[in-house]
Amino acid sequence: MAISDEYIQRLLSYVDIESVVSPYVNLRRRGRVLTGLCPFHNEKTPSFTVYPETNSFYCFGCGAAGSTINFVQKIENLDYVEAIKALSQRAGLQMPEDGYDDSLSKRRMRMLSINREAAKFFNSVLSEPRGEKVLQYFLGRGLTHKTITHFGLGCAPDSWDDLKKHLNSLGFSNEELYAANLVSRSERNGKVSYFDRFRNRAMTPIIDLRGNVVAFGGRVLDDSKPKYINTSDTLVYKKGRDIFALNFAKNTGSSQLILTEGYMDAIALHQYGFTNAVAGLGTALTREQAQLLSRYADEIALAYDADEAGIKAKNRAIDILSSTGLKIRVLNLTGGKDPDEILRKYGRERFQSLLDGASNDIEYKLLAQREKFDLSTSNGKLEFLREAVKLLADLDGAIERDIYISKLSSELNVSRDAIQTQVNELRSKKNRYKERERVKALKRESSGEGDRLNPARNVNLRAAKAEERLITILLNSPEFYEKIEQNIKPEDFVTDFNRHIFTVIYNRLSEQKSVELSLLSGELSDDEMSRATKLFLQGRGTAFSLPECNDCIGVIKQEKVNKTDIKPSELSDEDYLKLFKKGNI
Ligand code: CTP
Ligand code: MN
Repeated sequence: MAISDEYIQRLLSYVDIESVVSPYVNLRRRGRVLTGLCPFHNEKTPSFTVYPETNSFYCFGCGAAGSTINFVQKIENLDYVEAIKALSQRAGLQMPEDGYDDSLSKRRMRMLSINREAAKFFNSVLSEPRGEKVLQYFLGRGLTHKTITHFGLGCAPDSWDDLKKHLNSLGFSNEELYAANLVSRSERNGKVSYFDRFRNRAMTPIIDLRGNVVAFGGRVLDDSKPKYINTSDTLVYKKGRDIFALNFAKNTGSSQLILTEGYMDAIALHQYGFTNAVAGLGTALTREQAQLLSRYADEIALAYDADEAGIKAKNRAIDILSSTGLKIRVLNLTGGKDPDEILRKYGRERFQSLLDGASNDIEYKLLAQREKFDLSTSNGKLEFLREAVKLLADLDGAIERDIYISKLSSELNVSRDAIQTQVNELRSKKNRYKERERVKALKRESSGEGDRLNPARNVNLRAAKAEERLITILLNSPEFYEKIEQNIKPEDFVTDFNRHIFTVIYNRLSEQKSVELSLLSGELSDDEMSRATKLFLQGRGTAFSLPECNDCIGVIKQEKVNKTDIKPSELSDEDYLKLFKKGNI
């Protein structure tokens, strides 16, 4: 935790925030700040702002904020020490070896080595007699030796402890293997024993963008259940965060990625030359995954299974991907249940033509609606039109809307104007609704209602505002510390969230340390950093006065007393004594 302030200041003098952010965000200069589309939430107009002078960023849309270090942490999913390591590498600086506690970071590194060794083990078993069955399984599914090696596929032997023994012999303890989710634990008569979690399975390692093995999926060789056993969440893996094969696909330079449901589909696609194929990891596509995809592609071609589950998953994926601003194409898989089967049955060209003929998302949705109704009856036509109008009203491009309205009009033999009028009506209704919601949200925000970061703010608004002002003042004009330190202590704060931010600032100032934003990253959580950054930026360029500080302190103390007054039943004896002393009771 405690990497020295000197080192961090030196590091940040080498790497400016603009060059750190710009690979991820298309930044435009606006005077002293830079703005762009926020990489942490979905938006169409830029509210993500970078402040080069203070090495900080703030998003007016979602509230994400912090220092250069926080940006790297958030965008690369790194912890504090790892982010500093990454920045150090960039700057060509040698990070000081000692003087910081990186036990979490060390545990993660160790877990990654365990996973790497496990992957090597599984793969090597394939060339041994005990791996013959799994090897034949892979070959039987049409995979070449080259593909097997490329993806590091392997075999978990049919044994209770082959992997465990192997990893033990490399010096890893059972507890470590358990934490990595490679062994299970059982307790009988007070005796704890560990055994391999993956047994008699075809193994696929999950590799993250930096080439680390973070998890495994193990498939049965027959039709027994469960079909897959997967690594659950660990220190180095979180379901719904990574995308399978993106480590390869990101290097193809294509602006399109093919997204499949299963690993096997993505692997087969790579073998057939579609090296821009990736797969989800067995869960429904998440927003986080969609964001990740959007960093490497403009367009996603969805090649989900043709069965009912696949169609459901596909519809969900379409919604999530389009709200991330990605263009979408939807393949209509015919002649096979999934990409893997189609490739093996009909070869590369067939898949290519499915890809070329893929409809965009609106076409796909219109088609799906059309199938639900009998268009030979007027009633069916009407019902379909109603659904179609809903879909078209969601399209933001006027030309695009026009094209589909014309198409519908001629296909259904309904007047163009009639459809147009309905679409326009629905659009203005939706716009009015959106505007109302926006205003409501703004009102909620300005009254501090429903503050996600500091839930107590809502019921302690007066105190919270004073606390925040005091934090703003100290971050911008730390010289006030000496004049007020006697009058206010962190304990006086009413809301826990602000108290912790204040404690860090207060302690630093009492040790005559700087409270520069970047130096707080190591001591504040992500949320606390976001708030601190916002408060700091709010006060930039303002001249503060001692009376203002004292006003804030007065309010905080008064509110603290009011608060304790309301619920005397919750007071300890000690609290009662304090109140007596102050003459409140
Ligand atoms: N999956 C899972 N657990 C299951 C079934 C599926 O985690 N019991 C995940 C796996 O990540 C799998 C994906 O969901 O890759 C898609 O499922 P499916 O299409 O059934 O798997 P495939 O990998 O295509 O398997 P196969 O073609 O061998 O049947
Ligand atoms: Mn499949």
